[in-house]
Amino acid sequence: MQNRSLISINDYSKEEILHVLDLAGEFEQNPSRDILKDKVIATLFFEPSTRTRLSFESAVNRLGGKIIGFTDSASSSSIKGESLKDTIKTVSNYSDLIVMRHPIEGSARYASEVAMVPVINAGDGANQHPTQTLLDLYSIRKTQESLDNLNLFIVGDLKYGRTVHSLIMAMAHFNATFWFISPKDLRIPLEYKLFLDQRGLKYYEQRDISDVVSEADIIYMTRVQKERFSDPIEYERIKNAYVLKSNMLQDTRKTMKILHPLPRVSEISTDVDDSEKAYYFIQALNGVYTRQAIISLILGLKN
Ligand code: CP
Repeated sequence: MQNRSLISINDYSKEEILHVLDLAGEFEQNPSRDILKDKVIATLFFEPSTRTRLSFESAVNRLGGKIIGFTDSASSSSIKGESLKDTIKTVSNYSDLIVMRHPIEGSARYASEVAMVPVINAGDGANQHPTQTLLDLYSIRKTQESLDNLNLFIVGDLKYGRTVHSLIMAMAHFNATFWFISPKDLRIPLEYKLFLDQRGLKYYEQRDISDVVSEADIIYMTRVQKERFSDPIEYERIKNAYVLKSNMLQDTRKTMKILHPLPRVSEISTDVDDSEKAYYFIQALNGVYTRQAIISLILGLKN
């Protein structure tokens, strides 16, 4: 994994994914140490972020590294018309590793092709968000004790949700059964169903969550991705299609956990937050340990 960019979750084998999770567990035991001393990490966020950027920055700070970067394109020279290629080549001169979020699908792969240092994709449009997936897997394994043979319910915006797309590809390694619950207009794209068909994995598409929820090991809620809609009226029509409420949890498994990549808008009622099944804020914390593992593997500071 040393010096390799992480653009798609498919860039890592099953064994490499499990290695990241094991190392993240070590960082959880001891998250503050000085192994990134003298390393500079660039965080280039052309799209807004709270968790991804700050957990990357927290991870680096706790390991003694330095951060440079920008939090929106308006504060970089891209606003003056600089190309992504020129920005990436320039920042390559200033850093040992680039973490980039960008609204255009494929931009992260392109950046990795022109950069002189490894690039981590922190989300490219509706395409992929591989480090989110690694922290999701860490959270699932921690709460279910294994990643194998789970019933994974994925609810909400399955069309534009990049975290969903990466998660499906990763959980395909572990013989998951998938339950896709979404409005008709936000169904899971065909390519992901073909991906699962090719691997002989089971999946179901449902409109209604309440009659099947008792089967779930994990309910992975997602936000309707307002920023990907060209028509605001369409977003308003669809945005509250699924709202998880505490009274819907009565028949769920004792060990079931609710995950959400966050940010939440209205798709999980705040009355769920006090449930022992609500795991989404701890999931966000797990992002620090997982990103510590990814950075230290890519920089060759851990094997
Ligand atoms: N999960 C996630 O990507 O959150 P942010 O958009 O806040 O980074």
